[in-house]
Amino acid sequence: MAASSVFRPGLFNHKVAIVTGGGTGIGKAISEELLELGCNVVISSRKVERLEAAAEEMRQKIPASSPARVTPLQCNIRNEDEVKDLVSSVLKRYGRIDFLVNNGGGQFSSPAEHMSSKGWKAVIDTNLTGTFHCCQQVYAAWMKQHGGVIVNIIADMWKGFPGMAHTGAARAAVDNLTKSLAIEWAASGVRVNSVAPGTIFSKTAMENYKDLGPSLFKMSISSAVCFLLSPGASYISGDTLRVDAGQSLYHSMWEIPNHSAWPEAPEGENQEALKELLNPKSKL
Ligand code: ADE
Repeated sequence: MAASSVFRPGLFNHKVAIVTGGGTGIGKAISEELLELGCNVVISSRKVERLEAAAEEMRQKIPASSPARVTPLQCNIRNEDEVKDLVSSVLKRYGRIDFLVNNGGGQFSSPAEHMSSKGWKAVIDTNLTGTFHCCQQVYAAWMKQHGGVIVNIIADMWKGFPGMAHTGAARAAVDNLTKSLAIEWAASGVRVNSVAPGTIFSKTAMENYKDLGPSLFKMSISSAVCFLLSPGASYISGDTLRVDAGQSLYHSMWEIPNHSAWPEAPEGENQEALKELLNPKSKL
C-alpha cells in the first residue's frame, strides 16, 4: 500500500473499528487509512455487493506483513435489531470494538415545503437514529466495560441547510448527541467527538484543485478522524472538529433571499432603502 497516512505505521495494530458507510466516499477513505495503520476494519452498509467489492479492493492494498483485516458486513442502521446483530458479529469475529465511526447517512435535495413526511422521517432515521443505534449498541455490548472512541461524521450545517433541511436538522442533532454521550459515557473511558467536513465541491474549489480535489478532501477528513481516534486526542471529548479550511468562517453557501414581500419596518425606518439593501441583486 502506498504510504499516505501522516501517522506512525502500526499505530492501530490489533485494534478493531466499525465504519458505517465504509464502502464509499469519505467512509472508504477512513477505512483505508485505518487499515494502513494496522487496524482491523469492519465496513458496513446496506448494499452488500458494493461493500464486498470495496473490501476486495482494500485487501489488495494491505501488505502481507500487516495484521490488518477488512470485513464487509451488511447492516441497515435504521433497524435496531440489525445493528445489534452487527455488533455481536464483530465481537464474535474479533473479540473487541475499539472504534466506531458513524459515517453512514443519506439525503436528497428538496425544498422544505415539498418534503413528504416519509422522506423527512427516512433522513432523520438514517442520519440521527441510525447513529444513535450504533452508539448505543456498541456501548452496551463493549465500550461500557472496556472504553473506546466514537467519531460521528456530520456536515457544515452551521448556517442552516436550505434545500436539505432534514439532513441539516439531523446533523445538528448529532452534534448535540455527541456532547450528551461524551458526558454520560466519560466514566466508562469512552470519548465521543464529531467531524464536520466542509464543502469543497464548490466551483472555485473544483477549479483550484481539479481532479485532486475529491481525494485531498477525503484524505483531510480521514486524517482528522484518525487523529481523534488516536491517543493524541486522549483529552478531547464532546467536541466537533470542523475540517473545512476555515470555510464556515469566511464563506456562506447561500444566496441572499428575496425580501421584497417582507412586512413594513417600524415607523421611521427607511423601508425602501432597507428592501434595496436586502435585494439579492443589489450590490453589497
Ligand atoms: N448508508 C445510507 N443509508 C444507510 C442505512 N440505512 N444503513 C446503513 N448505511 C447506510
